[in-house]
Amino acid sequence: MNSASSIATQPEDADIVIFGASGDLTNRKLLPALAHMYRWNLIAPGSRIIGVLREKHEVRGWNEQVHASLLKYAPDIVNNNTLWNGFSRMLHPIQGDLEDESFYQRLSDVVEDSNTAMNVLFYFAIPPAYYHVTSRNLHAVRLTDEEKGWRRLVIEKPFGMDLDSARHLNRCLLSYFDEAQIYRIDHYLGKESVQNLLAFRFANAVFEPLWNRNYIDHVQITVAESIGIEYRGGYYEKSGALRDMVQNHLLQLLALVAMEPPAEISATGVRNEKIQVLQSIHRMTPEEVKTHAVRAQYGAGMLDDEPVKGYRWEKDVARDSNTETFVALKMYIDNWRWQGVPFFLRTGKRLPSRVSEIAIRFRQAPLNMFKHTASTIEPNELVFRLQPNEGMSLSLNAKQPGLTMHLHPLQLDAPYAEDSSNMPEAYETLLYDVLLGDATLFNRGDEVEEAWKVVTPIMEAWQENHKVTLYPAATWDIPGMDELIAGHEGGWRQL
Ligand SMILES: NC(=O)c1ccc[n+]([C@@H]2O[C@H](COP(=O)([O-])OP(=O)(O)OC[C@H]3O[C@@H](n4cnc5c(N)ncnc54)[C@H](OP(=O)(O)O)[C@@H]3O)[C@@H](O)[C@H]2O)c1
Repeated sequence: MNSASSIATQPEDADIVIFGASGDLTNRKLLPALAHMYRWNLIAPGSRIIGVLREKHEVRGWNEQVHASLLKYAPDIVNNNTLWNGFSRMLHPIQGDLEDESFYQRLSDVVEDSNTAMNVLFYFAIPPAYYHVTSRNLHAVRLTDEEKGWRRLVIEKPFGMDLDSARHLNRCLLSYFDEAQIYRIDHYLGKESVQNLLAFRFANAVFEPLWNRNYIDHVQITVAESIGIEYRGGYYEKSGALRDMVQNHLLQLLALVAMEPPAEISATGVRNEKIQVLQSIHRMTPEEVKTHAVRAQYGAGMLDDEPVKGYRWEKDVARDSNTETFVALKMYIDNWRWQGVPFFLRTGKRLPSRVSEIAIRFRQAPLNMFKHTASTIEPNELVFRLQPNEGMSLSLNAKQPGLTMHLHPLQLDAPYAEDSSNMPEAYETLLYDVLLGDATLFNRGDEVEEAWKVVTPIMEAWQENHKVTLYPAATWDIPGMDELIAGHEGGWRQL
């Protein structure tokens, strides 16, 4: 962020109210992101971070709690006294139970007490079951009114658990906030590679003419994790990989790859184009689900020479659970640009490594003119790496140095930063955007609903047939995965 911060605009003063200030997300992601933003002058000096804590004793101990979290997740801040002192002066804890109506009046008084502009960012780092009651109570004390400054709401996924509940959530939120005030966060969209996808596509003339069915054989989007479900068994049992990852992160990535050039890179421009893609994704029939969708669940296995247990033996998971921890899909987009080009999506837990990437695999050259040299020609591939080591690479065929005309693959590799530790974390980028009022990288309500419509036929077909197959943890030995891509140029990328 250091180079970025030198050209970045500083947002206006604002109160950043974090509901759920004692929670995991706040401690692991929000506070470190805010501390780094403070470090790079991306929070105006008159801003406050108001942490809502349920218990009085937590209010007294909040500074120590924040210090402890930063020591773990942003040690550069706490190891520098000037930075820590400055940042900790921004912290204003307040006691409040989300269901206690009187708390919201106290919160309103605290906000009114600000001696700077009354811009307020409400961050719901709380269980989704509280989104409604909290919005309603904020509205009741007019904290959602924008008379004295802007008011913005950030909410975290899950945005519903199916189409009906997503619609219900949207309706609830829209009773109290305008759509333009709501920032539905998807941290994948804050990653440097995702923003770079827009830059590569729309700031370079070389790619766009190739970006269609005439040149692209298929697209692979992979989000692989090596961790299991950790402590989230209760949530995951109701969710599964399709709801937890595909409905949001993977479909958002697909939409950014496939969208038409927007009229401008703006919230309206980009989101209008993304929704067109989501609307054009072919809805699978029950028959197609059998051949175009694979699901599986991790069994026991070995990871880094340590035994790991199978999903069914995780905490809060039923011993006969059929929840999928892996999904692979073959999707088609019914429009002129992409007709007949499959988009392969795969995501799962307890895979051999943590890798996320978007790979564009081009068609073979029309004719191998080097057959006589016994050289094979590989299809070109453009890869945007989301993690690890954010960057992009392009694979080409080139002549091997020497006297004979032999071809070999040549990889042009471009990390986005020489030292990736200097790159902003997704939450820094996204929080900064909220403070500036730029919703380009956030989901709009209609996109969320459209994405649910894409996965609903798959969810319904899987409900009919409960059976899920198993894969050994930390392997790619997933039954049906290879068959899904059979016949397409080059098969799955080996990660
Ligand atoms: N953690 C992640 O990495 C992650 C990733 C994606 C999305 N999310 C979403 O982010 C949100 C927060 O997740 P999380 O993992 O941080 O959950 P969490 O660790 O369980 O934290 C929930 C927070 O809400 C507070 N809270 C709950 N009920 C309350 C009440 N009645 N009054 C006041 N405070 C109350 C809790 O306070 P107490 O400590 O007093 O219970 C806690 O601070 C959820 O919507 C989740 O789906 C989280």
